[in-house]
Amino acid sequence: MNERTREFEAKNGPPAWTREHAAAIERTDDTVAPIIYPPEAPVDSDLHIWDTWFLRERDGSIADIDGYRIVFALSSSSELLPGKRHDVATIRYFYSRDGENWKTGGSIFDVDEKGPLGSRQWAGSALYDQGTIYAYYTASGARGEEALTYTQRLAVGHGGTVETDEDGLRIEGPWTHEVLLEPDGEFYETESQSRGMIYTFRDPWFFEDEGTTYLLFEANTPVPEGSDACGGDAAQQEFNGSVGIAESPTGNPTEFELRPPLLDAVCVNQELERPHVVRRDGCYYLFISSHDHTFTPGLDGYDALYGFVADSLRGEYEPLNASGLVLTNPSNAPFQAYSWLAYDHGDELLVTSFFNYFEFDRPSLDEVAVLPEAEQLRRFGGTLAPTVRIRLDGNRTKVVGTLGHGHLPLPDEELPESWWERCEKLPDEGEY
Ligand code: FRU
Repeated sequence: MNERTREFEAKNGPPAWTREHAAAIERTDDTVAPIIYPPEAPVDSDLHIWDTWFLRERDGSIADIDGYRIVFALSSSSELLPGKRHDVATIRYFYSRDGENWKTGGSIFDVDEKGPLGSRQWAGSALYDQGTIYAYYTASGARGEEALTYTQRLAVGHGGTVETDEDGLRIEGPWTHEVLLEPDGEFYETESQSRGMIYTFRDPWFFEDEGTTYLLFEANTPVPEGSDACGGDAAQQEFNGSVGIAESPTGNPTEFELRPPLLDAVCVNQELERPHVVRRDGCYYLFISSHDHTFTPGLDGYDALYGFVADSLRGEYEPLNASGLVLTNPSNAPFQAYSWLAYDHGDELLVTSFFNYFEFDRPSLDEVAVLPEAEQLRRFGGTLAPTVRIRLDGNRTKVVGTLGHGHLPLPDEELPESWWERCEKLPDEGEY
C-alpha cells in the first residue's frame, strides 16, 4: 500500500460497503419494483436505449430549454443483438415538453476525425452552463481501432449549443473533445493492474456542492497480489469496486484532479456503476447500480439500485436500509430493469432506468445468449422503464408507486396520489 492510500485509509477507516452489510441484502416489499410489461410504444422503435441522464444546470436542477427538458441515453440500432450494443454505443438526445412524450433529437456528436474519443461512448452526464453544453462521457477503446479494446477514460465534449424552433430542438457542435482523467494506479486501478473481471473507470457524473465542482465515477481500488485484504483471499480480492471522485480546483468544468474514493467495496462487489448523489435535508444520498454477478463469491446480491447516506459529501457513508439495497426487480423477472438514476421530487425520489430483459427468469444474464437470436431481441425492452416512486426517510426507503414508462416529471410537477398515500388514508381494521 502506498503512502497516499495509507494516509487516506488511516483517516477514513475501513471501506463503507462491507461484507456484513451486503450479507443482509434481501428482497422486501419496500425494495421490489412491480413487474414491468412492454409499453404500448417504445421511445424510438429504431433504437435500443439504455443508460439515461438529464441535461442539468450547475446546481443540479434539470435544464429548461424554452420549455423542453432533454435526456441523453446510450443507444444503438434496435436491429442489433442486445448483447452487442455496448460495442457500438452512441449517445443520442431526446426532448420533451411534458416529460412523457419524447422525441428523438439524434446523435449528440458527429462521428468523424474530430468526433468523440473512444471507439464507442459509454455513460456520462451533461451540464448546461452559460449557453454551452458540457457532455461528459466514457471514452471506451480508442477512436478508429480495428479490434475492440476495453480501455476506459473520462472525457468531455464541450462547446455544443442548443437551439429551439417551431420544429423542436437541436443540439449542435462544433465540439472540443478532451480526456479529463485516467486511473492513476494508486487510488484507482489501471487496466494493467486489474486481476479479474474487466476493470472499470467510467460513468463521469458532474456534481457541485458548496461551490466546489466534482466528477463522480465508477472505478476499482488497486489490490496488489499477496495483499492481506479480504483475509488474504485472492478470489475475493478480485472484486474491488469503488466510487471515485475528482475535484476541479478552479471550478472549470474541464479540469479535474483525482481524489481518494468516496466509497469502496473491496471484497464485496466489482462494479459500482453510474454513481450519483441526491442532496436532501443536509444529507448526501449516494446511489449506484450493481449486478447480481459482480458480488464476490459467498455474497448474494441482485441487479439493483443500492444507496448510502452521509452527512457530508466525503462520508462516512452508511448503507440505506442497513444492507444498501434500495430498489430491485421481482424474483420472477430478476433482469427486467437496470441502470437506475434517482432524482429528488419533494418527499419522494423518482427513479428511472431502462427496460432490460422480460419473460426471462433464469439465474444469470449470461443465459440470454442461449436463447435463439429472435428471442433475445423480442425479450429485450431497450427503452425507458416505468419510473419508480420511492419514499425516503433518513436511512430508510420504501417503494410507493410507479409512473408510466419514461415519465420523468420535473421536481415541481405534481404527481398523482401514490399507492402508499392511498393506503395511508384507508381506515385501520375495525374502523370500517
Ligand atoms: C451500465 C453500464 C455503464 C456503462 C454502460 C455501457 O449499464 O455498464 O457502467 O457506461 O453500461 O453500455
